[in-house]
Amino acid sequence: MNDSNKNAPSGAKAQLLKVRVRRQDGPGKEPYWQLFHVPREPEMNVISILQRIAAMAETVDGKKVSPVAWECGCLEEVCGSCTMVINGRTRQSCSALVVNLLKEQPDEIVLEPMSKFPVVRDLLVDRSRVFQALERVKAWVPVDGYYDMGPGERQTMAQQEQNYPLSQCMSCGCCLEACPQYGKIELEQKSGESDEDFAARKHEANDKGFIGAHAISQAVLFNNNPVGKVLANERVDALTKAGGVQVCGNAQNCVAVCPKEIPLTQSIARAGRAATVRTVKKFFDR
Ligand code: SF4
Ligand code: SF4
Ligand code: FES
Repeated sequence: MNDSNKNAPSGAKAQLLKVRVRRQDGPGKEPYWQLFHVPREPEMNVISILQRIAAMAETVDGKKVSPVAWECGCLEEVCGSCTMVINGRTRQSCSALVVNLLKEQPDEIVLEPMSKFPVVRDLLVDRSRVFQALERVKAWVPVDGYYDMGPGERQTMAQQEQNYPLSQCMSCGCCLEACPQYGKIELEQKSGESDEDFAARKHEANDKGFIGAHAISQAVLFNNNPVGKVLANERVDALTKAGGVQVCGNAQNCVAVCPKEIPLTQSIARAGRAATVRTVKKFFDR
């Protein structure tokens, strides 16, 4: 931390936070670093730092720059959209409090985009693969909403206790960032390629990549739902295709970093067992 700076509020000798940001002007562009001084305020989190940086848009050398781009939604660690790498650890910028960050690393706060997703700009990444994986496993309860079908089947207390932790997933991507089996997929639009063709090529490439711990866990959640289980076989089939549960090397990094403490390795084991049972059944049904 520094003691003074021209960005400090007038009349006050505010404590200054040194904030280093890894920036990138667009997809496929070279990344570069910029340093900012941000006057410290009480109760600051990383989002409020980024708001101050956007307002001043000036580096420590007095160079005027474009505001840093990032994404956020709920501001209460529920939507997952503000996830980035903060002081080397992937986490949500809304719940990353400055007071705690300075205890970990007193000199500066370092902000980087997640490395497993294509950068759109600065700290904003394209997480569409995370949601595409949820589509692959049909991570929903299939209900026809056009007429009242009455209350759904009751869940036992034991089912609720097993399902509730899994239902807290916010698709943040921390488990994917930490997973050694989850490689980055980044394609470039070819010259003359239409936006639709590029989107289709990206979709196809994502569908072949590792599905990830979050989607495996959501498949387990919906297969354990009294209504959701009608799609159980389709989900297990999706989990055994290319990029499915068999790709997991059981390194257990995912469970160690999940901010919601979801028992991902238990889900992976349950999915693996369901996949084996389904494969054997299909063999004998031939
Ligand atoms: S399982 Fe945990 S780390 Fe992974 S996307 Fe869900 S909340 Fe994030
Ligand atoms: S247990 Fe599987 S999904 Fe989790 S980090 Fe390891 S390889 Fe990735
Ligand atoms: S803004 Fe929703 S998790 Fe941070």
